[in-house]
Amino acid sequence: MLSNLAARDVETLIHPYTQLASFRETGPLVIERGEGVWVYDTEGKPYIEGLAGLWCTALGYSNRELVEAAREQMMTLPFTHLFTGRSHDPAIELAEKLKEMAPMPVSKIFFCSSGSEANDTQVKLVWYMNNALGRRGKKKIIARLRGYHGVTVASASLTGLPANHADFDLPIAHILHTSCPHFYRFGRDGETEEEFSSRMAAELEDQILREGPDTVAAFIAEPVMGAGGAIMPPEGYFEKIQAVLDRYDILFIADEVITGFGRLGTAFGCEKLAIRPDTLSFAKAVTSAYLPLGGVMIPERMYQAMLDESRKIGTFGHGFTYSGHPVAAAVALKTLEIYRRDRIFEDAERKAPRFQRRLSALADHPIVGEARGLGLIGGLEIVANKSSKAQFDPKKGVAAKAVGFAQAEGLILRALMDDRIAICPPLVITDEEIDEAFDRLGRALDRTAEWVSQEGLAAA
Ligand SMILES: Cc1ncc(COP(=O)(O)O)c(C=O)c1O
Repeated sequence: MLSNLAARDVETLIHPYTQLASFRETGPLVIERGEGVWVYDTEGKPYIEGLAGLWCTALGYSNRELVEAAREQMMTLPFTHLFTGRSHDPAIELAEKLKEMAPMPVSKIFFCSSGSEANDTQVKLVWYMNNALGRRGKKKIIARLRGYHGVTVASASLTGLPANHADFDLPIAHILHTSCPHFYRFGRDGETEEEFSSRMAAELEDQILREGPDTVAAFIAEPVMGAGGAIMPPEGYFEKIQAVLDRYDILFIADEVITGFGRLGTAFGCEKLAIRPDTLSFAKAVTSAYLPLGGVMIPERMYQAMLDESRKIGTFGHGFTYSGHPVAAAVALKTLEIYRRDRIFEDAERKAPRFQRRLSALADHPIVGEARGLGLIGGLEIVANKSSKAQFDPKKGVAAKAVGFAQAEGLILRALMDDRIAICPPLVITDEEIDEAFDRLGRALDRTAEWVSQEGLAAA
């Protein structure tokens, strides 16, 4: 029997990324408030937010300084925009700060309100730039299977997940996908991780040569794959990929929507993984998710091409009402100040070994195939047979069941495709809370193993 609030929800809301049919029976988990890494449902039950909301609430819940920054800006100037040359102090200051922090030389910052908008902007800017440079045939963008880049028409096309394409008539033209570099799942018998990375780079190069290097404009990748499975890059992968891109003058777009702002223990994931991106998308933790804000870091070469194009056409015809929203920008400025002042990234780096030790230990669990992470993010894969890596029938939803048990234990996680589970807590999680989260996850996996044997589930 659903509560009154839950029943009203079912009759009024479309929930993103939800099985709409079964949801009518289960109803929602209604969260009422949060404090630190904890959130509380309407019954008052506490949960550790093991996914930082959606990989975003880096500073946790109820940060009074962020609330105050928003309040002050709302009292002063709740809205003005950046269209037609208008401007405001918070956007200017934030762009300056982001340029200073960037992992590569950046000329300008373009603001928007989400990761999807940032990646849609990337696609448009790559096309705009190559038109300006007279390279009208160099338009294809290569993304990766299982990459996640958002849900708007172009960004969903970049996303390499079946559910984002099926019956949405996507992907659009000019978007291609290359292999997913998941060593555990796709590495061959006897192949080392380095060899696997070389094979991934060779496949990419073959694809570029098949398409014609003059037709391929850019490659987009998350430093660590998030929604596609919390998958870590294999040894040497990005170095080898980068060498291929350099050979054919193909831009590297780093999608740092999850890895930006300390997730891997460095300001950006590109630093941790020695990636040299040309452009970069950010969102989520730039405001610790207290308000929506995203953006694109634009290199000088692209800016010069945009200037040329604008001289030719006139107006730069792209931008959102909320590009650089002053309240979101003020909250982002305060967030970046707190990151610096409280040494949040360094602290994440300090806590990472404990987090990773607890995560790796789960690889010994009878139903866990892989448990691997980096910084304060990790992914684990549930399997039916550890030695053959055989999976359960996806229809049985074993990872979803495990996430349900974790929720019962007071830990919020997310099940991803292929029975993978992601863990990505707020960066402010304490050592004790890391232990508590993994204790709860361990119990949830035990309950899942029990359920699997009661149900007599075996490899699909
Ligand atoms: C790497 C990455 N890129 C883009 C997006 C899309 O961001 P949004 O949901 O804000 O549109 C996400 C969201 O999870 C993401 O993880």
